[in-house]
Order: sequence, then structure tokens, then C-alpha cells
Amino acid sequence: MEILRSVVVLVHLVGFAILFGAWVVEAVSRRARVTSLMNYALLISLVTGLALSAPWGLDHDLNYAKIGIKLVVLIIIGALLGIGSARQKRNGSLSPAIFWPIGILALLNAGLAVIWH
Ligand code: HEM
Repeated sequence: MEILRSVVVLVHLVGFAILFGAWVVEAVSRRARVTSLMNYALLISLVTGLALSAPWGLDHDLNYAKIGIKLVVLIIIGALLGIGSARQKRNGSLSPAIFWPIGILALLNAGLAVIWH
């Protein structure tokens, strides 16, 4: 059970790595666009995060306040991705006010996960 949980944590981290990595690629190349890879990565983070929110294969209690905040942050990222892709299709570009919070919130969620126990 513990090994299975660790595998799910690993896939959860892959979701974060793809989301943040895809965002950094756009930021560094100054394209500031949302991509479908970000949507898939967010879905991976959501599904694995929900699986990890059940108390199995654990020797400690889960921090449900932290989990709740992470879920809200993920929903905000999802909304920004949705609004961003619609606006980008309509206008051909995306406002920095939509693009920047996506990466910052992804990093915030990873920070919450690692720093707040
Ligand atoms: C952008 C979204 C997310 C990011 C970047 C993220 C990041 C992370 C990271 C880096 C870890 C590993 C922390 C560690 O092992 O010390 C982790 C663990 C975890 N995450 Fe997330 N996460 C996200 C979304 C979610 C969501 C939506 C949920 C639940 C609804 C969730 C629930 C969990 C749980 C339960 C753990 C394991 C905690 C434990 O076993 O003590 N995550 N997350």
C-alpha cells in the first residue's frame, strides 16, 4: 500500500512538473500562451491529488485544511486556463493578468504541499 501511494505521489509530481514546465517554456519564450498540455497536467494533478486525499497507505494524519486550499487553488488555475484559452482563440493573444497567475499559483500549490505539514 505504501509503495502504491508513493507511485501515486510520483504521478502527482509529474502533473506538477508538466504544468509548471509547460508554463515556464511559454514564459521564457515570451509567448505567454496557455497550451493544452497545461490542461492535461492539471487533470493529472487533480485526479492523483484526490486519490491521495483519502487516508490509505499512511502513517500520519492528512492536513485537510491544506488539501482544501490546494483544491481551491487548482480550481482557480483551471478557470484561468479556460478563460485564457477562450480569449486566446478570440483575440490571438493573452493578457499577462491571466498568464502569470497560472504559474505562480501552480508554484504556490507545490509550496503549500512541501512547506505546510
Ligand atoms: C497545481 C496543483 C497541485 C500541485 C502543484 C501539487 C503539488 C504537490 C506536491 C509537490 C506534493 C508532494 C509533497 C510532499 O510529498 O511533501 C503533493 C502532495 C499531495 N497533494 Fe498536491 N498538488 C496539487 C494539487 C492537489 C490537489 C487538487 C489535491 C487534493 C484535492 C492535492 C492533494 C495532495 C495530497 C493529499 C498530497 C500528499 C500529502 C501526504 O501524503 O502527506 N494536491 N502535492
